Amino acid sequence: MGVSVSGWRLARAVSTCGQLGVVSGTAIDVVLSRTLQLGDPGGHFRRALAAFPLREAAERILRKHFIEGGKPAGSPFRPIPMVGHQPSRETEELVIAANFSAIHLAKEGHDGWVGLNLLEKIQPPTLAALFGAMLAGVDVVLMGAGIPRQIPGMLDRFAAGEPAEHRLDVTGGTAPVTMRLDPADHGITGPLHRPMFLPVVSSHVLALTLARKASGRVDGFIVEGPVAGGHNAPPRGTMQLNESGEPVYGERDKIDPEAFVKLGLPFWLAGGRAHAGSLADAMACGARGIQVGTAFALCRESGFDPALKSRIIESLRNDSLEIRTSAAASPTGFPFKVAQVAGTVAEPAVYQARRRVCDMGVLREIYQKSDGSVGYRCASEPVDDYVAKGGDAADCEGRLCLCNALCASAGVPQVRNGEEEACLVTLGDDLAEIRGLLGDRDEYTAEDVIRHLRG
Ligand SMILES: Cc1cc2nc3c(=O)[nH]c(=O)nc-3n(C[C@H](O)[C@H](O)[C@H](O)COP(=O)(O)O)c2cc1C
Repeated sequence: MGVSVSGWRLARAVSTCGQLGVVSGTAIDVVLSRTLQLGDPGGHFRRALAAFPLREAAERILRKHFIEGGKPAGSPFRPIPMVGHQPSRETEELVIAANFSAIHLAKEGHDGWVGLNLLEKIQPPTLAALFGAMLAGVDVVLMGAGIPRQIPGMLDRFAAGEPAEHRLDVTGGTAPVTMRLDPADHGITGPLHRPMFLPVVSSHVLALTLARKASGRVDGFIVEGPVAGGHNAPPRGTMQLNESGEPVYGERDKIDPEAFVKLGLPFWLAGGRAHAGSLADAMACGARGIQVGTAFALCRESGFDPALKSRIIESLRNDSLEIRTSAAASPTGFPFKVAQVAGTVAEPAVYQARRRVCDMGVLREIYQKSDGSVGYRCASEPVDDYVAKGGDAADCEGRLCLCNALCASAGVPQVRNGEEEACLVTLGDDLAEIRGLLGDRDEYTAEDVIRHLRG
């Protein structure tokens, strides 16, 4: 769960309980830089960097990003360069180090499994993210938001100590744009542990395509339905919207566990599976288990900013927390679950008041310019800029800057003219169970969730 909602603390708590804790790799380079700029409270990232095998890179990162005692309150974070198809060595090192650090910290002090979640839609950092996570011995890579066909091959290459390549999706592209990362360029020459690869899919047809046509071994699937938090797969066929502007899902979007059983690979069901009987139900229809997000997103160890988490829990408790599936919010074009929390960009007045700015660029679309070179655009950037890059102004309507808003929710908001960027909260539709889990308490832990799920 990005950005940093499933950070290393939550992943570690879940893994310590004997389940698969997953670290979100999304924008984790930004989180590392900003945490160091805040003085690295607790010294966790400095401890991880002390174990980072790329020693000179670790020194460079600390020199550049760490601020003893933290940046002055109310001052902006120093921005880091956006990750593009030709990242500088420094940028590549930061992505490698950030993914290494998060997995390293999540694995500290126990021998449970830890996974890394990435999004297929966010391609330029992928090679560096996988390499960094594999340096820390990541056990599983989980990847959704697209068709991650090339990932297994990359894992195989890095595992063999060889360079890996990634051919990027370029809108209107006629010439291939390929990134390459050679471990030897970073002084790493030996083999690495090859993690399992579990794509996140919403249909068995996509799963079959991946099982047959991926560049290497697929080890199983996370099968996610449309009630899940975060991004959702669009409905099959042409997207119809209801009167509130939400995508309408129908019979064809229902998960068919039997079809997955026939594929013969292990699978885990996700989306609204936090009920006490969900695990047993899933196993009864052939699944290996379940993946749960929302219940963990609100537990003590999750990476939501603590004040924001308390506000969400308060509105959950008084039954005023509403979740909408927005067809417009995400620049990826995928439906995205938006919790209607006061003071966040989900509130129309807050959304209108925000000046559009694109300075993180995690979700930018890569496109081919008329001169054949490669450009970047995002439907959440200033509309004139987007249109000047060949984008359609209509695509900008209702788009949120997930990069800035989700970093704000993770407690590292950029500050502009003395004001912090507003937060955004994504959660799944199924909140009733979490209300029950909370009971009269102010908070619950990851262990409480696991105990509840195991019945
Ligand atoms: C706050 C939050 C952030 C999420 N972010 C991601 C993400 O970055 N990548 C991803 O593959 N899934 C993401 N998800 C989906 C979860 O990984 C999980 O599959 C889903 O939450 C399961 O459904 P549930 O929310 O009903 O438990 C997110 C979910 C939540 C609640």
